[in-house]
Amino acid sequence: MCGIIAYSGKSPAAEKLYRGLKRLEYRGYDSAGISTLSEGCIFTAKHGGRVERLRADLGALSGCTGIGHTRWATHGRATDANAHPHLCGRFSIVHNGIIRNCEQLKKELKGLGRTFFSQTDSEVIAHLLDMYYCGDMLQAMLHAVARLKGLWAVAALCADFNGFIVARRSSPVVLGEGDDGFYAASDVHAIVGCAHSCCVLEDGDIAVVTPEGMRVYDSLLNPVVRAFEPVPAECAGGDMEGCPHYMLKEIRQNAAAITDTCDGFFRCEGADGLFKKLARADKIVLTGCGTAYNASLAGARLLGWAYDCPVSAHIAGEYCSDPPRLTTRSVCIAVTQSGETADTLAAASIARGCGAYLIAVTNCPRSAVTRLADFVVPVCAGPEVCVAATKSYIGQLACFHLLAAGECAMRRAGQLQSVAAKVKKLAFDGAYARVIASLCASSRAVFFLGRGGDVDVAVEGSLKLKEVSYIFSAGYPAGELKHGTLALVDESVLSIVLMCDQCLVSKCESAVEQILSRGGKVAVITTLPSAYASVSPRVQAAWLLPQTCAHLSHFISSTALQLVAYHTALLVGRDPDKPRNLAKSVTVE
Ligand code: BG6
Repeated sequence: MCGIIAYSGKSPAAEKLYRGLKRLEYRGYDSAGISTLSEGCIFTAKHGGRVERLRADLGALSGCTGIGHTRWATHGRATDANAHPHLCGRFSIVHNGIIRNCEQLKKELKGLGRTFFSQTDSEVIAHLLDMYYCGDMLQAMLHAVARLKGLWAVAALCADFNGFIVARRSSPVVLGEGDDGFYAASDVHAIVGCAHSCCVLEDGDIAVVTPEGMRVYDSLLNPVVRAFEPVPAECAGGDMEGCPHYMLKEIRQNAAAITDTCDGFFRCEGADGLFKKLARADKIVLTGCGTAYNASLAGARLLGWAYDCPVSAHIAGEYCSDPPRLTTRSVCIAVTQSGETADTLAAASIARGCGAYLIAVTNCPRSAVTRLADFVVPVCAGPEVCVAATKSYIGQLACFHLLAAGECAMRRAGQLQSVAAKVKKLAFDGAYARVIASLCASSRAVFFLGRGGDVDVAVEGSLKLKEVSYIFSAGYPAGELKHGTLALVDESVLSIVLMCDQCLVSKCESAVEQILSRGGKVAVITTLPSAYASVSPRVQAAWLLPQTCAHLSHFISSTALQLVAYHTALLVGRDPDKPRNLAKSVTVE
């Protein structure tokens, strides 16, 4: 996904747009650009690379109206030419989303003699606006978006108009009102501290914004009113709390994610009805992407133990090609930190289409998934800025524990509160994590192994390491290693073996021996003193975590593996908050 921002008011636009883009970088940071408008002239600066590169250009971007963009590339590499804004005639535009019929439109527009300067899909919007413009920006935008197929949040400047116009379909847009002007942005996070109130544009809306005010129209150009509400204070994201990176700050918020999610759960009205839905379900499916999918694996295990029906986790991107057969008695749980991931929204829509009851487990209360769901179970982890999910994953686990506990949720919450205290202590102690990180940093590949519930933690721990260190890794059931992957094991490969379930220790110890006997490096991470005491002296490292029962151990072992990934990233010189090629949530399929 990408981030767009726009401003029109009494203050110079460039600095405001730059600040907002810095807050939107989690949405993508392959390239960035700004256009401003002053006395009928459009000034533009855009570069491949991070938003920071725009700082040197701000002085040349005059005017109190402008648009900005930070990009996660979908069409075309991260070059200056492919950076937004895209210009055509009297227009400059920024776009978040994907134009599925861009090739067909390009062919038509080239046939009319138009020249394209980028490989992006978005540039067609600038040409359509220029082609349909006859002095009325609103009409031009209406005709332009009528030609588009796909998803868009598009903001446009016109040299003839002192303001901007913004239109959306599927990709999010919030409007904001501040003391010195008016804003539009992909996420309210971008305008915190500038806007005091905000509203969400609905699909099909077009807003015309000038330094004097905003007017919103629906897709038939009927004026509409969207409800404004105060900009939530928690969106501020807070300061770094003494941490050098958001990733460490957010790992240290894991404990609060557990306790706040418990509190949020019991504030939900209708949770009892939810338990009845789950108890009567003929099938429960969970779906998500990335870390949210990995949380779904743990959720499926917990709910499978709790309810007498088939429970399964599905990768959202694969859901549409092989959708589980659901009925009106089925329950689908869409798990998504941002609530905006296109693959997950698509899967949730399919489930809804089957008549299933849709539960959303999300960290973003005003997101698209909440508008799809029959019930929202809030993850109360607070804004998660680091692209790699950490505290939101922990909060998702807490949600699954409470959903699995049913009428005993209050008692389970008590258990979660006690494990949270252990998580908090662990998150502030990086000593052992740094030891294992040094082993990861010097390895060609890292396997994460476990059995039972530890497999879910291993899979997520592997993803975390890949995301922030770029080291090849895979998460596996420990028993599976010998059926093929063991062929990759040699002295350049590290295997991190989790042992948090007493019943499965001996089988994990067999895997350790199989690896050691082939010269592989091993690190053991366990919550069990007995397993720790019997660790082979030939392993490279062993870490005894705070003790807890097996079904709660994933809070602790996941926190440990997040710390390992974070410290590995530092050792290999990566930016743990903004890994290359990634974005916080991908709003295209
Ligand atoms: C990816 C992110 O783009 O989307 C991951 O880099 C995330 O960190 C995944 O887990 C799913 O995002 P969400 O918002 O649907 O949980």
